[in-house]
Amino acid sequence: MTIVARLREISAVAGLVSLFLLVSSGFGLGAGYVASEREAFDSVLFLHRQGADAVFLRSLHHWLASVLVFCGALYLALSFLEGIAAGRRAVFWLSGGLFFVAVGFCFTGFPLPMDQNAYWGMVVRFGIVETIPLVGRGLAALLRGGATLDASTLPRLYTLHASVLPLLAMGLLGALLSQRPGEPAEGRRLHRLLSLCLVLLGLAYAFAAVFEAPLEPRADPADTSYVPRPEWYFLWLYQLGKLLAAVPWVQSLLVPALGLATLVAAPWIFTTSFRARLLLVSFAGVAWAGLTGLALLQNRDLPARPSYEQALRSRAEGLYREECQSCHGAGGRGDGSQARAFGLDCPDLTDPGLWEARSDEQLRLAIRDGQGADMPAFGEKLDSEAIEALVDLLRRRFRPARR
Ligand code: HEC
Repeated sequence: MTIVARLREISAVAGLVSLFLLVSSGFGLGAGYVASEREAFDSVLFLHRQGADAVFLRSLHHWLASVLVFCGALYLALSFLEGIAAGRRAVFWLSGGLFFVAVGFCFTGFPLPMDQNAYWGMVVRFGIVETIPLVGRGLAALLRGGATLDASTLPRLYTLHASVLPLLAMGLLGALLSQRPGEPAEGRRLHRLLSLCLVLLGLAYAFAAVFEAPLEPRADPADTSYVPRPEWYFLWLYQLGKLLAAVPWVQSLLVPALGLATLVAAPWIFTTSFRARLLLVSFAGVAWAGLTGLALLQNRDLPARPSYEQALRSRAEGLYREECQSCHGAGGRGDGSQARAFGLDCPDLTDPGLWEARSDEQLRLAIRDGQGADMPAFGEKLDSEAIEALVDLLRRRFRPARR
């Protein structure tokens, strides 16, 4: 087996393993996900609060989407390079179709968590779709369920993501397997392939267990200063759109159409010369890397994006400074300026006795409804998320370490 053939085989196995894990983790995620504009984020947040197992599922799904796109692209490039495209047209085209479906999965899955990046990324993507001449607006409206993003958008995307595309993928995969895409594996080769599957499974599990899928703050349609960033595999296209801003249809129509045309025509391109094929694949690789590198370079100066947890913590810190410190004091000892000026009997929040006597729930209630004569009620001013974050802050900052 040549090195190209071996690499192609590895990318195919890795792609299939990822697809399998994506489908199974997708079932798990679907059980808890609510595809509604208002509740989607909370349903994802709920998952994060369930603890490590649930987050693991989300992380697996998140990272493997990238692996699938990567393996798909690699597989197609290597098949073309090796000359498989010419010899086994149906296999090549079906794999190409599967690759496009995988990209469709990414397009429709990206907005589902409804955090800032998901929401604003979706705004940008629909903006790009709209620049397709003649049909762009209609297509965007069809996907969105109207002229603007609203309550009908997410259910549509979710239906595509969790019903339509899986059916398409299953059909294509079935047709592909019926073509017997690989040589039958027996003996040592079968052994090697199975070991490869196991290693890939282990790697995927370990990676998802260590690296959590990102979750940014809840989508805020009013925050127009937010700059979304596409996933790495769309960076080149986004950079191309930036370079050719005057002719937006290059990005939205010409490049995808060229990609599709190349895929369809690949069985007839440079069929006799390996070197010519190698040159073409290298050129595509260099163009991809160049555009991606340029995008990364230019994105360096964009403001950092805090995670949901980080944003909530800094919100709680700001709230404590503005709303609580004047009484409870910067150190939590109840010696703020207002407390001293009016002689208020503010509790010492660093007193271990207080933390033993009071549950988190009681502290939440004290903040929400007020307590005694001098602790004001904040239930009107602050939502439950902020109150929760304040209790968390009090605990982290003032609760003495247990001895
Ligand atoms: C006007 C002064 C004042 C402000 C402002 C204030 N507190 Fe208080 N807080 C008090 C006093 C006084 C008490 C004790 C009430 C009592 O039990 O009589 C108290 C009690 C509490 C308790 C309950 C402690 C316990 O032992 O039950 C918590 C928790 C608390 N405050 C948190 C906060 C937070 C969080 C903020 C800001 C969002 C805040 N407070 C703002 C004066 C204040």
